[in-house]
Amino acid sequence: MKPVKVGICGLGTVGGGTFNVLKRNAEEIARRAGRGIEVAQIAARRPNPKCETGATPITADIFELVDNPEIDIIIELIGGYTQARELVLKAIENGKHVVTANKALIAVHGNEIFAKAREKGVMVAFEAAVAGGIPVIKAIREGLSANRINWLAGIINGTGNFILTEMREKGRAFEDVLKEAQALGYAEADPTFDVEGIDAAHKLTILASIAFGIPLQFDKAYTEGISKLTSADVNYAEALGYRIKHLGVARRTDSGFELRVHPTLIPADRLIANVNGVMNAVMVNGDAAGSTLYYGAGAGMEATASAVVADVVDVVRALTTDPENHVPHLAFQPDSLSDHPVLPIEACESAYYLRIQAKDHPGVLAQVATILSERGINIESIMQKEVEEQDGLVPMILVTHRVVEARVNDAIAALEALDDVVGSVVRIRVEQLN
Ligand code: HSE
Repeated sequence: MKPVKVGICGLGTVGGGTFNVLKRNAEEIARRAGRGIEVAQIAARRPNPKCETGATPITADIFELVDNPEIDIIIELIGGYTQARELVLKAIENGKHVVTANKALIAVHGNEIFAKAREKGVMVAFEAAVAGGIPVIKAIREGLSANRINWLAGIINGTGNFILTEMREKGRAFEDVLKEAQALGYAEADPTFDVEGIDAAHKLTILASIAFGIPLQFDKAYTEGISKLTSADVNYAEALGYRIKHLGVARRTDSGFELRVHPTLIPADRLIANVNGVMNAVMVNGDAAGSTLYYGAGAGMEATASAVVADVVDVVRALTTDPENHVPHLAFQPDSLSDHPVLPIEACESAYYLRIQAKDHPGVLAQVATILSERGINIESIMQKEVEEQDGLVPMILVTHRVVEARVNDAIAALEALDDVVGSVVRIRVEQLN
């Protein structure tokens, strides 16, 4: 049988890795796919020194590939929203299948792209968009298709996890670690996407859709980054038996779905609390399978290429199947998506770590306890440290039981209004993940 021809748009970290893996493992991949896979053309603004492209034609114009009648599958690795959307929609219009690693594109424009793909009977595959080399999309969409998924929680940004790990283990400065992550090709073109949780929210939006069968709703995801975390809180969390991780959490509740990305205290003995460096992990809780955990490299040249090439193989295997029988893009049949709402953060529920800087006066602890109890907030543990030399204040650290966020917001406002409380109360959400 003739080989399937693919076009690679973008020859950066992931594009270069994809070309190399397709070339190095060509025989093995063909044995799996049932046909050879040939890179017919590449679109790149500049060569990638880590990639020997040989005689493969290269153009600077990505749109030449979608107009190339030889090409069956477009591999979109240019990133970003606008041009990538235009490219993918044009490829679909021209009857080409698409494989993409672009989480921003899928999270923001996925509903439109999938509708167009259904209309044209082509596939759009996006395993590499979430958690690099971990086949977590496939695991949830296919491996867990018997389950009603209750919740999932993941470390889904390698750069952020790398920064938190280096800060905790080596006491390195935030900016210094971020620069290293950029040099290693982990970080987004705009690294604020990594540290402010936008990249993780893109991925969480995708995971939540395939877990719960809801349309992609990136605009409803709550996003909080790691740039304001202090080493004091990292150390207090350790003393209480927790680790701070930047977590994406999606949870089913009776009133709607929670979709939130924020720094989170996790008990230090959980496996996911020990996922370090650029590694990612996603925990999924289903009613039949219970909790399952998926772990691996969340970013990097060949780890992400592994997911891209696996999608290409899936598309090649399905080329001759009736479009009606393709695995649905969002795991559930498109006419069976749920309209259950995504909840605002004020309606979400978790436990809380609160750090209060108080004056060293009698009765402060009693006032704090009264404010919390008046709002029905149950304290699980409390730790009061010695007076700090530099400012004469006493750090009080509390961990609450689970409570709805609006009540904690109200309590924090009341705490900050106390004469004996100085500055803002630090709040970090706590998840037991059991
Ligand atoms: N910037 C992303 C990360 C790349 O650090 O996880 C992989 O999506």
